[in-house]
Amino acid sequence: MEEELLKIKNNASSLIFEVESLDEINKIKMDFLGKSGVLTIAFKRITKIPEEKRPEIGRLANEIKDTIEQLLEQKTQEINKRQKEKRGQKVIDVTLPGATAPLGHLHPLTQVTLELVDIFKQLGYQAANGPEIETDYYNFEALNIPKEHPARDTQQTLYLDSRGTDLDPWEIIMRTQTSAMQGRVMERTKPPFRVIVPGKNFRYEQVDASHGFEFWQLEGFFVDKNVRLTDLFGTIDYVLKKIMGEKTEIKFATTNFPFVEPGVDTYMRCTVCAGRGCAFCKYAGWSEIMPAGMIHPNVLSKAEIDPKEYNGFAFAIGLSRIATLKYQMDDLRLLTNTDFRILKQF
Ligand code: DAH
Repeated sequence: MEEELLKIKNNASSLIFEVESLDEINKIKMDFLGKSGVLTIAFKRITKIPEEKRPEIGRLANEIKDTIEQLLEQKTQEINKRQKEKRGQKVIDVTLPGATAPLGHLHPLTQVTLELVDIFKQLGYQAANGPEIETDYYNFEALNIPKEHPARDTQQTLYLDSRGTDLDPWEIIMRTQTSAMQGRVMERTKPPFRVIVPGKNFRYEQVDASHGFEFWQLEGFFVDKNVRLTDLFGTIDYVLKKIMGEKTEIKFATTNFPFVEPGVDTYMRCTVCAGRGCAFCKYAGWSEIMPAGMIHPNVLSKAEIDPKEYNGFAFAIGLSRIATLKYQMDDLRLLTNTDFRILKQF
């Protein structure tokens, strides 16, 4: 039902965007909000869905109705104004304040990033920035992924041309993961520390509804004495609930990344389809959102931190996924195309 409602909203906004006359406006009004309009019919069907889902769906339907009404109203005003101007009846009221320039706003990805930075700040984390052009050493070797390690196959890497420099041909790359900052920070910082690194990564990857060739992550790592796996679980649970709402359902599974032991995968109940299965979650009902784990001792030793004295955990949040799941978009490519009809909604 949510999916259907969101489709109705998207259809209506693209139709309204293209409208040129008041007749067309009226037609759209009838088609969506009229007695037998698609949204009116959808409203009637809400009474048939399970009772516990009704308030949530009802709220969404009302929000969508408001949005459509607002868009119609804006467009009507626009058309009226244009017609008046055409007829040469433009009235100049010299007492009106000057026209204000349209204001832009932060991109939804920037909004979730800033929100997360704030949440982590309250947990004592410092934010750091790292280079998008990275060395093989920090992107792989420092993370316990030596050359020839099979884990490299999962991170289809874009190599940069190093001809004309004294660097090895395969040494300079576009970073494939913000984890690359672990080594850089650990080498320079005396534990204990808590650091997050929001940033963009690049992979030579097939693009689909939930994968991009460039994607945003927020890496985090926490190094101290006697850090426990349950500290990691608690942190993930707290942060995801803060950003996605207290009702967020999450589950953990084991997984393998060479730089953590044990490795943990965090799944969140898919908000696009409410767990029923859709293209975004690959019909699993759960979306992989936050891989993590206890930092492998080799990673600490490479940065000259004694793993007998210190340990810690690391995690990465898929920012593009968080943004799409938070705003119930069914395709993360919507975040990076240039269609203002989408961006204007945030
Ligand atoms: N860097 C990994 C990737 O992009 C994700 C990841 C997994 C980061 C586990 C972590 C971690 O910090 O502990 O595939």
